[in-house]
Formats: sequence, C-alpha cells, structure tokens
Amino acid sequence: MNTTRQMVAQRRVLFGMLGLLVPACAANPEDGGGQGGSGGQGGAGELRVPCREPAIVRDAAGRDTGFEKCADGRVHRVRTVACVEPQPVGAACALDGFECKVDADCTERPFGRCIDQSFQEDYCGCVYGCATDADCAEGNVCVCAGDDAVMPGGSRCVPSNCAADTACADDELCLIGAGSDGCSTWYGMGCSSPEDTCLSLADCGGDLYRGCFPGVDGHFACGDNGICGRPFVVEARGRVAEPCFGAAWGALEPAPGPLTLSCDEGEALTAHWLSLAALEHASVASFAQFTLGLMAHGAPPALLSATAQAMADEVEHARRCYAIASVYAGMAISPGPLDTSGARPAESLEALLSATIREACVGETLGAVEAAHMAECVAEPALREAWALIAADELRHAALGWQTLAWGLPRAPGLTAGAVRATVLGALSEILGQPGDDLSDDPVVLARLRAHGMLAASERRALFLEAAEVLIGPCVEAILGTAGVCPAA
Ligand SMILES: [Fe+2]
Ligand SMILES: [Fe+2]
Repeated sequence: MNTTRQMVAQRRVLFGMLGLLVPACAANPEDGGGQGGSGGQGGAGELRVPCREPAIVRDAAGRDTGFEKCADGRVHRVRTVACVEPQPVGAACALDGFECKVDADCTERPFGRCIDQSFQEDYCGCVYGCATDADCAEGNVCVCAGDDAVMPGGSRCVPSNCAADTACADDELCLIGAGSDGCSTWYGMGCSSPEDTCLSLADCGGDLYRGCFPGVDGHFACGDNGICGRPFVVEARGRVAEPCFGAAWGALEPAPGPLTLSCDEGEALTAHWLSLAALEHASVASFAQFTLGLMAHGAPPALLSATAQAMADEVEHARRCYAIASVYAGMAISPGPLDTSGARPAESLEALLSATIREACVGETLGAVEAAHMAECVAEPALREAWALIAADELRHAALGWQTLAWGLPRAPGLTAGAVRATVLGALSEILGQPGDDLSDDPVVLARLRAHGMLAASERRALFLEAAEVLIGPCVEAILGTAGVCPAA
C-alpha cells in the first residue's frame, strides 16, 4: 500500500472509531444459499465450534470454490480447487502516472492486471490473480473468485498458514477473514484457534471496516484499524528514564536479522531504538497522568478503560523497543527509574485538552503514521511485527485523544475552535522543526538504516507533512464540526 492510501485507510479507521463517518458500503455477508456441503470438518475430530448448515461458496457460474460458509458466518476452505477464472476483476486503468497503465505492465507474477482502484484519490495499481496455490508466493494460497462473501474481486493470492481444513487441528477450520478501508478489501487466512476473539465478520458487528482478520500473532481478531511514545510531560518538559544495564525489559531477543552493519550504523540504530524505547516507557507514565486528569474532570468510563488499555499497550511497546535496542547494542538494556516528581493532573479541562491535542491528537496520530510506514519498510519479520503492533495500538491511542477532545470541547468554553487549531499547528511546527539526525547522505546507508527501522529526517518530515494534510487536518475539522454532538462518549 502506498503512503497516501495507507493514511487514507488510517483516516477511515479513525473516523470510524470516532463515530464521525458511517461507512457507506460495508458489505454484510449473508448466509449462503448453496446446497449443503461436507459439514466443514477437516480432520477426524469434532469441531470445537460446529459448522451448522454449511453452504458451498460458488463462483458466478455456480462452480465450487472449495470454500464453505457456516450459518454463523465462518467461511473456511474445505478443499483446494483450480480456479476457472484466474484473472482479477476490475476496471481497466485510464489514468497516467501510476505503477502501471496496461495489464502488460504487471509482470511480477502470473495473471497480472492494471486496475483502476480510485476511491478518495485517483489510483491505478497491479493486481495479480491465480489459478492454483502454486501461482502464489510462499505462505499464500490461491482463493478463487467467489460469491460476495469470498473474493468478489476475482481470484487472488491470500496469506495463509493453511491450505485447507486438513492442515489444521482436528477441531479447527482453515478460515478466511477480511477487512476493508473502503477503497480496498484485504484478506487473510489461517487455522482457527481457541485464542481467536472472532471467527467471522458477524463477530465484529458485521462491519467490514473493522473486519475479522488474523493478526501478527496469527489469531483472528476484530480490527481496530497507531511515534513511538506519547510524551510524559511535567511542567512543560518531556521526561524519560535513563537507560541502564539489565534484562528486565530488554532481553536479547528477537534478533532483527544478520547485523551486517558498520560501527556507525550500529551505534545510530542503538541510539535510535533506545530513544524510541525511552519514549514508549515514558508513555506509561503519561497515560497514568492522563488518567488522573480524566478523573479530575469527570470523564466517562469508556475513556478511562481505553486509557487503561493504552497504558498496558505502552508497556509492551517499551518492552519490545528495549529488546530490539539491546540486540543492536549487543547487551541487555532496560530503563532506569523515571523521575515522576511534580507529576499531577492538568488543573483545568482546557489544559487537559490542550495537552491531549499535542500529545495524542498530533503526537500519537503521527506515531501511528510513522509506525505503519515503518512496518512496510523494514525487512526483518521481528521488526515488522513490532512496528505493525505499535501502528495498530497508536492509532487506537490517537483515536482516544480525538475522542477525549470531542467529549471535552463542549465542556471547556475556554478552548475555542481557534485555540484548538492553533494548538494543533503549534504541535505540528514543534515536531516538524525538530532537527534531523541523518547519519549519512549516502542513499545506500539510508536504505539500510530504513530497513532496520530508522527513517531519514527528510523522509520522516515529508511523511508527517502529508499526515498533517490527510489525517490531522480532517480530524480537527470533523471534531470541531461535531463537537456539540459529542460522539463516542
Ligand atoms: Fe506506544
Ligand atoms: Fe501510544
């Protein structure tokens, strides 16, 4: 996904969380009308959750796609079949300036087509179909075009840890899950497990924009489609703990790939990850201080419980960042004591909301953008997993910030719309004005650092400028326009 499309997707998720935009085209899968199938069992054992009234998922011509749909909405792959219609479906591209113009430009894999995927912005891109699993990269399977519950856009390779139910434990199914940002729908498959918190869209309110999708841990969960670290600010100054030796937080795992780095690169990455780790660690205290502020001003329980969850998220972010920093440092590093003296809740609701604008609405929204971008840049799975986790969590934390603003604005007459905009602009200026610390002008070195999770200052600045326009500006105006309605709280 390119950066703009990623941010548009994040904006849709944020708006969805804030109740500011009701998705116009959420597809609610209806129970299939096909004849009963095999019953959905893959192995010899009893299904943990029985598949009642299984219906074969068929393509437009009535052919079996190898999938069945249970009455509770689960869709699972019973058998592998060769797709009769391997080409992806969609309008031919009529735009210039994108990665492809005609189907012949799409040569990465078989059955490539250049499809117009314009939604809120013009976009054309290559989409690849498939006939069998062999047409897909390792770790993917070929899902044939089916009815509107499965792959309406044509046959497609989908990430999966199972080819069919037979690859799963006796009492589990090889499920397919989906999610959408409104302009594209993505799919993921995997064996169900007791750790799943959803098994179908029906478990997520039938909302494709939330989606029921296998996460980085492989378990299906409803989506909440999150810079490292909401700052811990006391008396207008950010505080972090000094690093110290020790494995309480920074055990020497996971290893982010073979470290073929120069000494300068290794030192830069150690410093970078330690800085991120310290900010994540400080975020725990920031949310504790925020909790006191919310309680001092009579906030509703939804905001308090979301804050408690966010605090737990930040502990995990810090643990992962210290672990990664420890690998680059070659020694286990953990945070020392954090100076919390003088920390207290904001004295007025206006002050609480102003801090929320700076730290959450701007800071954590940009954090979500950077993390999502890094998840696509880094090569090593352990780093990608960490960034993906942080991205999802930070987006939720950003939403908490915007929700807090929406709740508080009608109660804070001293914070005018003009003051909100000025606070946002001030926070953006402060972040964009921070000096860059590029190690090198050499694009090869910068690419290597990016692959290990460190963006060049110019790239980061461009990312944030775009995020200000695509995400933060629309959120500010949406909140100001609906502040009297007080959504979500
Ligand atoms: Fe975080
Ligand atoms: Fe956060």
